[in-house]
Amino acid sequence: MTSVTESTWTVPTATDLRRDLAAIDLPALVERHGTPLLVLDPARVAEQYRVLRRALPDVRPYYAVKALSHEAALSAVRDEGGFFDVASPREAALVAGLGVAPDHCIYTHPVKKPADVAAAARAGIRTFVFDNEGELDKFRGLEERVELMLRLEYRTPQALIDLSYKYGAPPAEALELVRAAQRRGLRVCGLSFHPGSQLASVEPLLRDIQHAAMLIDCLADVGVHLDVLDIGGGLPVPYDAAVPHVNSFVSAIEEEVRPLTERGIQVISEPGRFVAAPAMLAVAGVVGVTRRGGMPWYYLDDGLYGSFSNVLSDHVHPTIYAYDAGLEERPTFPSVLAGPTCDSNDVITTSAMLPALDVGDLVVAPFMGAYTSVTACEFNGLPKAAVVVV
Ligand SMILES: Cc1ncc(COP(=O)(O)O)c(C=O)c1O
Repeated sequence: MTSVTESTWTVPTATDLRRDLAAIDLPALVERHGTPLLVLDPARVAEQYRVLRRALPDVRPYYAVKALSHEAALSAVRDEGGFFDVASPREAALVAGLGVAPDHCIYTHPVKKPADVAAAARAGIRTFVFDNEGELDKFRGLEERVELMLRLEYRTPQALIDLSYKYGAPPAEALELVRAAQRRGLRVCGLSFHPGSQLASVEPLLRDIQHAAMLIDCLADVGVHLDVLDIGGGLPVPYDAAVPHVNSFVSAIEEEVRPLTERGIQVISEPGRFVAAPAMLAVAGVVGVTRRGGMPWYYLDDGLYGSFSNVLSDHVHPTIYAYDAGLEERPTFPSVLAGPTCDSNDVITTSAMLPALDVGDLVVAPFMGAYTSVTACEFNGLPKAAVVVV
């Protein structure tokens, strides 16, 4: 798949994609499994995880299982000696089932069912996240077995997904919440935040790190000593526009976190999209062709309720190409790609640039590993795309 070495990470061209696809016999996979299909390359998951570790040696990455929880992806991270961010009993069980030690996992959902907290703690997970006082009562009886990170609200309206809209305590309430935990005999080990997903630049992340570092200092001044800072996810991938490569983020992040590391604060992260997205390719078949409003419409067998659920939930715009190499030389036209359900909203894009397609042709979309199969459903009785591991 596309290599990531330059400081800007560009959208793969049709030619790039065809070169990458030469390594897999896509027609044979389609013949065997039909469409829609998601082609998962676990080696790419491992590579992305390694890239991150190399690029940010002072930040321990806990892979956010929510992005792509396929066993092959999780095993790839495990085989790298990796760490995991889980947010539900099922995610915790998936990772444990692969033999990952509980001390390689953190449980980051800020609002949990008491039974889920108890089960995760029984399974040996030690680090949990909270962002409100009521959550603390769910740890009663587990005081000796758990440590908590306080999730902070750092709004990022300019991120594609502002992950502080729903979760995170106002930083001004941090001391009060730490004291509330201490009154219950619970240890708060650190702070966490998410800078927003698919960041367009490193600035919001730097601003959040700086603020959290200042807060750690302020808390230390009143006798509260924290030793973990979790800087969340947010690293982007190039769906339809170039994005800064991780190397462009790294020096700035390292500069911010190094003084913290030197003071004995462990900095960790929760990358999801960056690790998972490049590892999966979506393949859909054209089921119907028509013209509406002067434009070609292609009805696919995958859509917003399937693998392209990321368009809805993440507001991303995957680049979609015709698969057939011969089609590349033909003129392209602005085209509509519609999903297979009866819902009129099930339109993936109204601006794909595609050659004239026929029923039975295939389209392919790179960077479809994160928040795709995990957020797909079976609306209209249409099965989710099969995931094929290559
Ligand atoms: C708590 C938490 N951690 C990590 C992630 C992964 O973020 P990203 O995919 O932007 O790396 C998410 C995404 O929703 C999240 O909610």
